[in-house]
Amino acid sequence: MGEKLKYGMIGGGPGAFIGAVHRAAIRLNDEADLVAWADVIPEAERLAAGRDMGVSDDRIYGSFEEMAAAEGSRADKLDWVDIVTPNRFHAPAAKLFLEQGINVACEKPLCFTVDEAKDLIDTAKAHGCLFAVTYTYTGHVMAREARQLVRNGVIGDIRMVMGEYPQDWLLDTLETITEDNKPWRADPKLSGRGAAVADLGTHIENWVNYVTGLKIDSLACNLDVFGEGGVLDNNVEALIRFENGATGIYWTSQVAIGFDNALKIRIFGDKGTIEFVQEENNYLKLSLRGEPPRVYSRGAGYLTPEAAAYVRVPTGHPEGLTEAFANIYKDFAAAIKDKKTGKQVNEADYGYPTLEMGLSGVEFFNKCVDSSEAGATWVKVDY
Ligand SMILES: NC(=O)c1ccc[n+]([C@@H]2O[C@H](COP(=O)([O-])OP(=O)(O)OC[C@H]3O[C@@H](n4cnc5c(N)ncnc54)[C@H](O)[C@@H]3O)[C@@H](O)[C@H]2O)c1
Repeated sequence: MGEKLKYGMIGGGPGAFIGAVHRAAIRLNDEADLVAWADVIPEAERLAAGRDMGVSDDRIYGSFEEMAAAEGSRADKLDWVDIVTPNRFHAPAAKLFLEQGINVACEKPLCFTVDEAKDLIDTAKAHGCLFAVTYTYTGHVMAREARQLVRNGVIGDIRMVMGEYPQDWLLDTLETITEDNKPWRADPKLSGRGAAVADLGTHIENWVNYVTGLKIDSLACNLDVFGEGGVLDNNVEALIRFENGATGIYWTSQVAIGFDNALKIRIFGDKGTIEFVQEENNYLKLSLRGEPPRVYSRGAGYLTPEAAAYVRVPTGHPEGLTEAFANIYKDFAAAIKDKKTGKQVNEADYGYPTLEMGLSGVEFFNKCVDSSEAGATWVKVDY
């Protein structure tokens, strides 16, 4: 099993945001090579970019449909395909590769509808495939530490959660949006029925679920569409009730001046509070009742073994977005390798965000839109 894994990618061409980060992250682990790639950019540009990525000409494709058919019929099938396209194409692309028996790593939000997500779960099961949803921020060492602290009972029973994720990138774009010229994130055909709520809100929903295991029972949500050119929500406020009786407040925005990518989550238990700030992800704050707050440093010897296993460089040498993705791919590669040796794989044991977590994100943002459309009334969330 010393051989490197082989993966393919859909999307992530020149100028795209997240595909190149995925490739760099996978390279950090040095466990897999990119051998096939599809994008819809013009052919000459595509060939040049594919060659730069080291993909041979016969495995550079102009559509994911063509790629799934060709790659699925090879004897040396891909170990997984990585889907980094706009949201609209996640479900159809994932389904085609699953039907070819190829494992999938897919960007969030997983897809548009709950039915699509459930269909992907059924298809993955039917074809014995593994599936990771690349919710980046669960890959940070301090997300793993937070999860372990909660599991070890350090903050006790959870009572409240506050999650916020403000950005301001959409502000300038809003002024120039026209019907024919809008970024895909503001276009319902490509983004889905939710924008900020699906793009950013699902990160909060997933991080909280990943770290605490809490499931949402019901929510009430208001979606704002600020600005002249706005079509979809760009500011979101949601009240959350969890199944265990805990409550939450989630806020996310694409028009909050002064904020870059400010995901911040605070989890309050009856013994203590955990605070995670994405832009300072090398640290985690823990406050225990009656004691001065303490700040954990990624890489320090006192981390739990479950988190320490992901530390790459010593304290004071910041890790970031690429390492977070790399940690998710490290987990996913471990599951794929185990599957290849014939081991029974229970995906929940490997640490990467699962297809079921993808489903819960899709349910979350759809229920937020339902609630907002009904005047911010409470709606039940059935996972
Ligand atoms: N996990 C994270 O933190 C994170 C961060 C950014 C983006 N994302 C997600 O990643 C996905 C891509 O976002 P992005 O910002 O990189 O988008 P992007 O617009 O920068 O890049 C999209 C790429 O997909 C290609 N593409 C478009 N349609 C295609 C098709 N039908 N088949 C093949 N390729 C196609 C485009 O040509 C481009 O190369 C989205 O789902 C987004 O939500 C996740």
